[in-house]
Amino acid sequence: MFKTGIHHISQLDGSVSLKSLLGKDRVVSVTLYDQILDFPNADFLAERILDCFSDERGVYKRTYANRFEAFDAHLLQMMEGQFDPASPMVVADVSVSDGRTACDLFERLAPRFPRIAHYASDFSPHVLVLKEGRFTLTLSRKNRILEMMWPPFVFSAMKPETPHFYPLNFVLRKFMRRFLAEPLLRKHLAGQAQTREIQLFSMRALNLVRKDARFHLGEQNILEPLMLPEPAHLVRSMNVLNPTYFTPADLARVVGNFHRALRPGGWLVAGSNEDAGSVVHGAVYRKTEAGFERIWQSGQGLELETHVLSWQAPAK
Ligand SMILES: C[S@@+](CC[C@H](N)C(=O)[O-])C[C@H]1O[C@@H](n2cnc3c(N)ncnc32)[C@H](O)[C@@H]1O
Repeated sequence: MFKTGIHHISQLDGSVSLKSLLGKDRVVSVTLYDQILDFPNADFLAERILDCFSDERGVYKRTYANRFEAFDAHLLQMMEGQFDPASPMVVADVSVSDGRTACDLFERLAPRFPRIAHYASDFSPHVLVLKEGRFTLTLSRKNRILEMMWPPFVFSAMKPETPHFYPLNFVLRKFMRRFLAEPLLRKHLAGQAQTREIQLFSMRALNLVRKDARFHLGEQNILEPLMLPEPAHLVRSMNVLNPTYFTPADLARVVGNFHRALRPGGWLVAGSNEDAGSVVHGAVYRKTEAGFERIWQSGQGLELETHVLSWQAPAK
């Protein structure tokens, strides 16, 4: 048994099933991402692409529009009680994947805080695409192999199919990596291959940047200090403070970076949920001199809350 992937834009017109014969999701190539942005169902298709795409560490960029409606509404209500709407409002919205949840939040906050500056960012939001003959290779900016495509096959380099269901895919993947991907990668490293860069931000987010100077998109690894022109009133980090992504030591670094990015009394908003509209298990924390204190809890609270509350600012 084998599983083919979605490798050409014409397969996304609804006539081709996105499931395999065994009912498993077919990999939709990330190289189609910049070709779907003008489609009427671009949001759905981008969601489907990001569902099977993972970055060089194997971390998914899964996201949904309207993911935190009730949570965001409550957050706005709290912010109106705390922050002056006539004053500047700096928001660092990190780990936003393609940015659709950042658009949701910005569009909710901007009418009430017109002097908002909203900095939305994600880890590694660009990929490089190289093509040779029928073979296409997708790399991270650090030249790690992310996807291999040899129509009709599309292989996510980080998430192999199980050999039990798809033995042919297993063999082909090994062949493709050794005889097509690695030689092309060597050519690229020698500066002898042409590359195309794809930005993994959604059309909605890219359009918002163009039409509203208060909304910004960028690259940010939250293990590094947050790059902001001024301290934030709010740092938001959704569906990322996850034990599968970060070790306890990494989490301490991330929480420290959030603390340093916030102004005194600023808020850290964090939580996790499933698809759009599902309950957010999260919280809002206020920055104190020593660390953070919780001021609101949603659902069952943040799974990794102990890492936030036990973090201590270094003595001055
Ligand atoms: C499951 S997605 C969540 C996306 C969005 N926040 C949401 O809730 O829909 C996790 C996101 O965390 C990002 N991420 C993982 N590690 C990161 C890191 N070290 N720095 C910044 N972002 C990271 C991924 O790139 C991905 O976009």
